[in-house]
Amino acid sequence: MWFDQNLFCIKFKPTFRNKYLIFRRFIQHFFMENNRICQLFNIQKPIIQAGMIWCSGWELASAVSNAGGLGLIGSGSMYPDVLRTHIQKCKQATSKPFGVNVPLLYPNIEEHIKIIIEEGVKIVFTSAGNPKTWTAHLKQHGITVVHVVSGVKFAVKCQEAGVDAIVAEGFEAGGHNGREETTTLVLIPQVRKAVALPLIAAGGIGTGSQMAAAFALGADAVQVGSRFVATPESSAHQNFKDAVINTKEGDTQLTLKQLTPVRLIKNKFFSEVDAAEKKGATVEELTQLLGRARAKKGMFEGDLNEGELEIGQISSAIKEIKPAAEVVNEIYNDFKLTIQALQKLSS
Ligand SMILES: Cc1cc2nc3c(=O)[nH]c(=O)nc-3n(C[C@H](O)[C@H](O)[C@H](O)COP(=O)(O)O)c2cc1C
Repeated sequence: MWFDQNLFCIKFKPTFRNKYLIFRRFIQHFFMENNRICQLFNIQKPIIQAGMIWCSGWELASAVSNAGGLGLIGSGSMYPDVLRTHIQKCKQATSKPFGVNVPLLYPNIEEHIKIIIEEGVKIVFTSAGNPKTWTAHLKQHGITVVHVVSGVKFAVKCQEAGVDAIVAEGFEAGGHNGREETTTLVLIPQVRKAVALPLIAAGGIGTGSQMAAAFALGADAVQVGSRFVATPESSAHQNFKDAVINTKEGDTQLTLKQLTPVRLIKNKFFSEVDAAEKKGATVEELTQLLGRARAKKGMFEGDLNEGELEIGQISSAIKEIKPAAEVVNEIYNDFKLTIQALQKLSS
């Protein structure tokens, strides 16, 4: 049986209240030990730090894994040799499980997969593509495979493809997103009903009460992206981190729906894309406008006018840049407090 390091380090007098507190912590740990996502990944807290281009390298992934969640290296913005370096550094920085996110819409996928296997990575989250393409191959190499979806029919396809778990991502989320614009609140219960697999909710989750809401809807864990952009360990440019904590309600919008829908901060680049779409620009014209370079320019190089700034609606609630471990612990503690408060409603 697994216990948190802190479980017994409270100095306590054996009063009834203190015994009750210890018992309650024991129950909570027992509950998490039975959590399907904690079991699947061998982690202590069912909080996944999302794979995010230009933002989630080894520093962020290892910090989250060391804090008891699951950190993911976002390979989408990495050349193969860069990915290999990040995996090797992550292995040095943590002895805990971590994974790699592989968005299937980017080039170099075959090389990325080869490196992931060679480096002995045990967990892969694929996204933005067909789950059938790589799942069997990865599983043959003993890798746990999770796929990200934005709708029920894709979740069913994941089950058919043999993935181990699903991330269902609502349209509040930062980054690439579903055309149907299904919100997390509407999506999770429907995916829960349609598939029996362990389910991770994503999109608009940045606090423990939001995590508790996701569990109430049927999720076994949460995947958090935007909140982790505003951490010192994220590889995002400081200008982008500052922009995130200054974002207000309504400052992000889903755009490029003809191409690959993506939620962006409404800056100069966004306005250009929006105007082009309204004028009826072709897919080729839009592809040229977008390009991978724009995402790098905005999120990694900090050009807030010309660059693409991917972030979720939750950014308007993020007010501070704080260490990733603090984010994990705050979300988890707030989650437990929320559940306790809700339990009181029924007593
Ligand atoms: C800056 C940024 C980059 C992202 N890049 C990726 C990516 O490379 N691959 C992917 O599967 N999802 C990507 N996403 C989506 C996240 O993985 C995650 O599902 C999403 O951020 C969750 O919603 P939230 O932003 O409301 O927390 C990105 C999100 C952000 C904010």
